Amino acid sequence: MSDAARRKQAAAEAALGFLTDDTIIGVGTGSTVNFFIDALAGRRDRVRGAVSSSEASTARLRAAGIEVLDLNQTGDLELYVDGADEADRHGRLIKGGGGALTREKIVAAASRRFVCIVDDTKVVDVLGRFPLPVEVIPMARSYVARQLLKLGGQPVLREAFITDNGNPILDVHGLRILDPPALEAAINGIAGVVTVGLFAQRAADIVLVGEADGVRRLK
Ligand code: 5RP
Repeated sequence: MSDAARRKQAAAEAALGFLTDDTIIGVGTGSTVNFFIDALAGRRDRVRGAVSSSEASTARLRAAGIEVLDLNQTGDLELYVDGADEADRHGRLIKGGGGALTREKIVAAASRRFVCIVDDTKVVDVLGRFPLPVEVIPMARSYVARQLLKLGGQPVLREAFITDNGNPILDVHGLRILDPPALEAAINGIAGVVTVGLFAQRAADIVLVGEADGVRRLK
């Protein structure tokens, strides 16, 4: 296993410390979350089930023997665990590198506590080095791209990719995001945007950072 993978695994395993018995847990998407699901498999007796943010995580949860439940049936969740592509020291995130941003944002919104798990390469002072994913309704792709240009970004259509919701993603390069909640609101306000992968209005409550010599709690 690579060093980066080991650091992701360490952060993922540290998130198990936030589990409370007999609850339903929200589960994100990505390689860091895959380590979390694998670790959760050993504790599956402690959880009633999971709400999943993607088809990929659903398949992995089921393979681990964890029941996947519908958010419409569960009500709000105690805990959501997910990775990120970038995190700042306030717990504000860029997410959606794996394309699951819309369901991730829904589960994060419906959860009382959001624990984000990352390795130390993801921590930045200012968000924007990682291209910001924006999921769009197909017919609005070009219109939204023109509006994103006006906001100072360079949108690039993610090649050969459709989300679990059947939509394309524009990855917006060249942003230096000095006011994340304001940019999140501005992009959310463009007609045809489904979700922007900026998690600032609902930031992570806790960020666990896997490092070479252990796990640091950033927030
Ligand atoms: C998926 C995400 C992931 O959390 C993000 O891309 C991080 O992935 P990984 O853990 O593989 O680095 O937002 O939509």
